[in-house]
Amino acid sequence: MNLFSLSGTSLAEEAQALRVQIREHNFRYFILNEPSISDADYDALLRQLGDLEQCLGKPTPSDSPTQTVGAPISQAFTPCEHAVPLLSLANAFDAEEVRAFDQRISDVLDRDDYDYIVEPKIDGLAVNLRYESGVLVSAATRGDGRVGENVTDNVRTIADIPWRLAGEGVPDVLEIRGEIYMSKASFQALNQSQALAGEKPFANPRNAAAGSLRQLDASKTAKRQLSFFAYGVGMGADGWVTSQTEFFERLHRIGFPVQNYQLFSNIDDVLQYYEAFTIKRVELKYDIDGLVFKLNDFSLQDEVGFVARSPRWAIAHKFPAEEALTTVKKVIWQVGRTGVITPVAVMQPVSVGGVMVSRATLHNVQELQRKDVREGDAVWIRRAGDVIPEIVCVANDEAHLQRSSVVVPDVCPECSALIVQENGEVAIRCSGGLACPAQLKERLSHFVSRHGMDIEGLGEKLIARMVDEGLIHDIADLYALDYETLMTWTGMGEKKITKLQQSITASQHPDLAHFLYALGMRHVGQATARNLAEALGTWEHVRDADEAALLAISDVGTEVAASIQRFFQEKHNSEVLQRLYHLGVHPQTCAVKEKPLNHPLSGKRVVLTGSFEHIKRSDAQQQLRDLGAKPSGSVSKNTDIVIAGEKAGSKREKAEALGVKIVGEAELLAWLDIKP
Ligand code: IVH
Repeated sequence: MNLFSLSGTSLAEEAQALRVQIREHNFRYFILNEPSISDADYDALLRQLGDLEQCLGKPTPSDSPTQTVGAPISQAFTPCEHAVPLLSLANAFDAEEVRAFDQRISDVLDRDDYDYIVEPKIDGLAVNLRYESGVLVSAATRGDGRVGENVTDNVRTIADIPWRLAGEGVPDVLEIRGEIYMSKASFQALNQSQALAGEKPFANPRNAAAGSLRQLDASKTAKRQLSFFAYGVGMGADGWVTSQTEFFERLHRIGFPVQNYQLFSNIDDVLQYYEAFTIKRVELKYDIDGLVFKLNDFSLQDEVGFVARSPRWAIAHKFPAEEALTTVKKVIWQVGRTGVITPVAVMQPVSVGGVMVSRATLHNVQELQRKDVREGDAVWIRRAGDVIPEIVCVANDEAHLQRSSVVVPDVCPECSALIVQENGEVAIRCSGGLACPAQLKERLSHFVSRHGMDIEGLGEKLIARMVDEGLIHDIADLYALDYETLMTWTGMGEKKITKLQQSITASQHPDLAHFLYALGMRHVGQATARNLAEALGTWEHVRDADEAALLAISDVGTEVAASIQRFFQEKHNSEVLQRLYHLGVHPQTCAVKEKPLNHPLSGKRVVLTGSFEHIKRSDAQQQLRDLGAKPSGSVSKNTDIVIAGEKAGSKREKAEALGVKIVGEAELLAWLDIKP
């Protein structure tokens, strides 16, 4: 049985599939603090999507990961909407990309006499600190860039962050942005105490910082020794500071610690400094993963503007990932929740960038064959400040050819069902469906997870035992558990069982989005599940929705729609759903959200230029984005509309030359429904 096959894919479908995949990675990285791929692979996926979207030529959906930042916020903390969105930085991986960045700036500015400020790129997590009348009133994580998590209580425990700003002339409302991080020394001390307490060590300082900040009990955060460096300002910069160097001077005066920075007037010097820093970085007391180059002057930053998810006036030049040499002991095949079988190299444990690693994913058969990794090979592995290392290549070794190539299995290592490979897919899958214990275990873990049915007391080990001993054959069996047998198992005291029973009973009326997510339909992550719930209201409506109804829902393309339909058409699934219903699992009805009316600017590429009397340019940009428009910093033949205010200069001229439609402030205000 294979419920989730991929059909032949078009470019648009491929892009949509990538979007789903990247959103899941965002969620793992930003919310769970448990990324499952390396930063480099993540960057590659994002680039691949960006390239595809360019090829498609159509307006890119505004919720594509190339246009947004981060992940949906976790429900553990209250949401906090940012007054000004928190964006991200574009990356440059080599000097050529940095020069291209500089070229774009000089093209837009039409001059070369500007300065770059260079700052270390701290490997931590972004926060926005809001000060009103000089007092810290709220602190929020980045979240999806628009709405973050309110972590004020926890942030107040960080010594580097002043509760009250010092000095005079501080704007009434001032939002400081920066990175919360954990120093190398605090990280080591924390992992030592984790080990003593028998707890899992953190993989790296970034994960430790994220886990520490997102404690529900602020007194726990207080014990974790977090630090902070500011790098930017959200609200309140106007009239207070005019450049990044001035901003750092002020920051120091009002009580923040400031990183070392350097000013350069040409890109060659910037690149030279970067080279020297790749060695110097180890001397820092905290982890950095690159340097950030920014235009120093704020008015020039304004002129250069933004592309969808990042400023065009700044770039992060990443450091090469840290590498080490080790040997592959064997290659094993792991079966995931949807049956995908992944080759994993089990290696001689080795320290990479201070972290011991012994496993590396080889992603898929193609990747395994491309790298031609064989058991016994010496391999270079790489960690780029992230958890999951990857094999870069096999080290030069004559014995390599004498070793035999890894044999790709034709049956599932867990259940012996045939392995299949669908058209156009790289992944190989077990065809055993839920009859495969590995898939069932993974699926159950997903079903009970916090963002699914939120059933406590059912860890991986217990699930594995329940499946192995035949107590559970599918997810519905959870609601008809044989508690008497469970009671006879070692480690299963009465208290534990009562708690489990209570938690299972409490899960019988789940929020619809949680229920849909818990079902583990392929391509339906949390965000899509929420969209389905808000558009259709009940799970029966989702089950019965035809393709057109599904396609009308945001985030759902043909591939996702097909996957949902396949899921509900599959006989085994409808039996399980029916049984769930009879066993008392009745998801709550979700209030159906009206779809916003299609705005005439939806999907249009607009450029704002000049100054406006009744609205700030950045506010207008945000409101246009909310209407589905795509504001951009420069005019090209692809621009749909230029909105020109007072003193609009070269951009207006360029629009005229290209024949792009030009409108004024009056039209802008009408679109935004603002009465002048
Ligand atoms: S400037 C509009 N400067 O890196 C975004 N970011 O990968 C401006 N980061 O979201 C960001 N050190 O969380 C900036 N010196 C620095 C930074 C820095 C670390 C983080 C920040 C940002 C992410 C982008």
